[in-house]
Amino acid sequence: MPSRTDHWWRSAVIYQIYPRSFADGNGDGMGDLPGITARLPHLRDLGVDAVWLSPFYPSPQHDAGYDVADYRAVDPLFGDLGDADKMIAEAHALALKVIVDLVPNHTSHEHAWFRAALAAEPGSAERERYIFRDGRGPDGGEPPNGWQSVFGGSAWERVADGQWYLHLFDVSQPDLNWGCPAVRAEFVAILRFWLDRGVDGFRIDVAHGLIKEETLADWEYAGEILGGLPPEGAPPPPMWDQDGVHEVYQQWRAILDEYEGERILVAEAWVQPADRLARYVRPDEMHQAFNFEYLTAPWSADPLRKVIDSTMAANGAVGAPTTWVLSNHDVVRHATRLGYPDSENRRHGIGIGDPQPDVGLGLRRARAATLLMLALPGSAYLYQGEELGLPEATEIPDEYRQDPAWERSGHTERGRDGCRVPIPWEADAPSYGFGPSDASWLPQPAVWSEYALDRQRDVAGSTYELYRSALRLRARHGLGTAALTWLDTPADVLAFRTGDLLVLTNLGDPAAELPLHARVVLASEPLTEDGRVPQDVTIWARV
Ligand code: GLC
Repeated sequence: MPSRTDHWWRSAVIYQIYPRSFADGNGDGMGDLPGITARLPHLRDLGVDAVWLSPFYPSPQHDAGYDVADYRAVDPLFGDLGDADKMIAEAHALALKVIVDLVPNHTSHEHAWFRAALAAEPGSAERERYIFRDGRGPDGGEPPNGWQSVFGGSAWERVADGQWYLHLFDVSQPDLNWGCPAVRAEFVAILRFWLDRGVDGFRIDVAHGLIKEETLADWEYAGEILGGLPPEGAPPPPMWDQDGVHEVYQQWRAILDEYEGERILVAEAWVQPADRLARYVRPDEMHQAFNFEYLTAPWSADPLRKVIDSTMAANGAVGAPTTWVLSNHDVVRHATRLGYPDSENRRHGIGIGDPQPDVGLGLRRARAATLLMLALPGSAYLYQGEELGLPEATEIPDEYRQDPAWERSGHTERGRDGCRVPIPWEADAPSYGFGPSDASWLPQPAVWSEYALDRQRDVAGSTYELYRSALRLRARHGLGTAALTWLDTPADVLAFRTGDLLVLTNLGDPAAELPLHARVVLASEPLTEDGRVPQDVTIWARV
């Protein structure tokens, strides 16, 4: 069995910290780096290998920090560079790797470059770093083409002198022009800045968006990243997954390889099918890509088996590990998604007045889904709070919503605030222990007290202890590094061998039989009295 330090990323369990909502050190209601540093021992105890932090750079926070105004500093909301250094040092002292978020597709409109572009003439070098065009129509009053923003509405905004700039996301997120050498050089310098500070890798935001088709050919479909696909028969989107992006990542890989240790690149690329996505993880490009096809698969045996096989085959063909993920800061938490009979993604969010999930069913399935995921070969991503079984906050009053999608969609998409609510640590403390005061930038539901870490630590059967046991056993049995062999099973049952374990998930009724002599080492819920595996339960067993 390869040791866990060789190619650590091939089987790593990576925990996503959403800095705004993990831990608040100073009581202002906003999470921060000192808060994170103080809580890192929790992640060591949980048993993860690495953390990935969503952006903490200076930003007007129109898209929760994915609108970066300065790539080489820390937003005062979160601390300063000294706090970042301390966080990295403390993580390393606890044997945790640190991955930071890099947002190369767009800057904030408050970035010095964009301010300079607005102050400069059409055709100037300053404008060349972004995507400025003249409009259509008699006085250029129509946008240059019909592209839609992912958050709703046109992807173009007009500036005072009549030109338009492209923003595939919020109007405050102008797209950079990756045809411009100055842009490429700047990002190389930014990579080196953080590599020199000791980070172990980068999660690349919107990795499939950097290069646009040269003529900016029109495309009439709504822009979607979060699991939405254009209708069948639509031409390929001219703004996503253009071949030119790969040259950028080849250059970055060569830079990372100059550094000691294995520093990694992870693609956030909403690209299908799997062999197209695998191009991002060819040997001279990134190390990993998020497996969103797995995240969006329904809770049903056949589709799950198919996506496991097809994504492993596609990655295997280029020698890359497959990754697995069920929740992140952009999607409805899996404990809630799976609480709807159809297990549909509800990627536009959930709010008051929407059909509400069956919380018990959601948690039961989520625990089964997590045990299945953590047994698969490759690397797995966890999103903060899922180790507590935290559901989506589905009843946030609309006046508190901050996701730009809510306004830009004309209040038709609730957006992603429900998975971003500050997480509970202590049931009886102000803000459930998120910080020293009762302030919280999004309101925390009263049920958070039931999910708090201190209610679950050392409690047999709690979701926290289930995660902790799973991670301990995963390391002990070399799961993640072992191959997978499917076993013949009834239609609603998934079962495979990996390493010296048998893994079985029963997605249907009736309860599933285990082979004679199977000794269960972990189960997402109790078995039936006669030792069978009930519906929506995963077990790991020695055979
Ligand atoms: C990515 C991020 C998302 C952000 C978007 C624009 O998809 O995960 O949170 O809104 O990029 O940067």
